[in-house]
Amino acid sequence: MNPKIKVVVATNEHIPYVDIILDTIEKAAKVRGTGIARRSNEYVSKKMEEGKAIIALTEENEFAGFCYIESWGNKSFVANSGLIVVDKFRGMGLAKAIKKRAFMLSREMFPDAKIFGLTTGAAVMKINAELGYRAVTFAELTDDVAFWKGCESCVNYDILQRSDRRFCMCTGMLFDPLELKRKDVMEGVSHAIELV
Ligand SMILES: CC(C)(COP(=O)(O)OP(=O)(O)OC[C@H]1O[C@@H](n2cnc3c(N)ncnc32)[C@H](O)[C@@H]1OP(=O)(O)O)[C@@H](O)C(=O)NCCC(=O)NCCS
Repeated sequence: MNPKIKVVVATNEHIPYVDIILDTIEKAAKVRGTGIARRSNEYVSKKMEEGKAIIALTEENEFAGFCYIESWGNKSFVANSGLIVVDKFRGMGLAKAIKKRAFMLSREMFPDAKIFGLTTGAAVMKINAELGYRAVTFAELTDDVAFWKGCESCVNYDILQRSDRRFCMCTGMLFDPLELKRKDVMEGVSHAIELV
């Protein structure tokens, strides 16, 4: 990745970037012709204040990319949402760096939570798979009504409603920390077998 771009946990000093972040997300959704769960300026600012957002800036402090995390279902689930990379900074691994940082932050803040995301994008699916997510049906995601309410502002919401929240245009992807533990145990077991 371009070493001149820093990827950091956002704080209140980054609140002046919220307008450009939301504008870039909105424009990108129009270009892609896909839906998004729209967030308000206040919502994203609060994410920054709570240390639940990742921002990428150039050395000259030009906005390059963003993502935030939110917890659902009494903190048993964490979603990484609102991923955006400014056009001219795409294709250099920046989304991957932002998602990685958001993933680490989610693990630090909510170590027992399942981490999930909804996406229609091939790049995001690829990054998620590399981080250990797998594609799941919506039944495996949070049943927190507040999360699904976020989909109301999406152009595809009628599909979600018609399917009784079982499927829509997005693919659900999930990282389960318990599976990681099971994998560690299995690796331990196979290692032990090799040693015998
Ligand atoms: C999707 C998006 C975040 C990708 O940003 P990016 O910085 O260009 O992505 P990266 O350079 O980190 O690429 C990550 C991987 O995805 C691949 N990739 C990137 N764009 C892709 C695309 N359009 N189709 C398929 N794969 C793609 C890259 O080749 C890379 O794989 P590699 O590591 O094997 O080379 C960016 O295009 C964007 O902001 N799009 C509009 C908003 C959006 O779609 N957000 C996601 C909502 S869920």
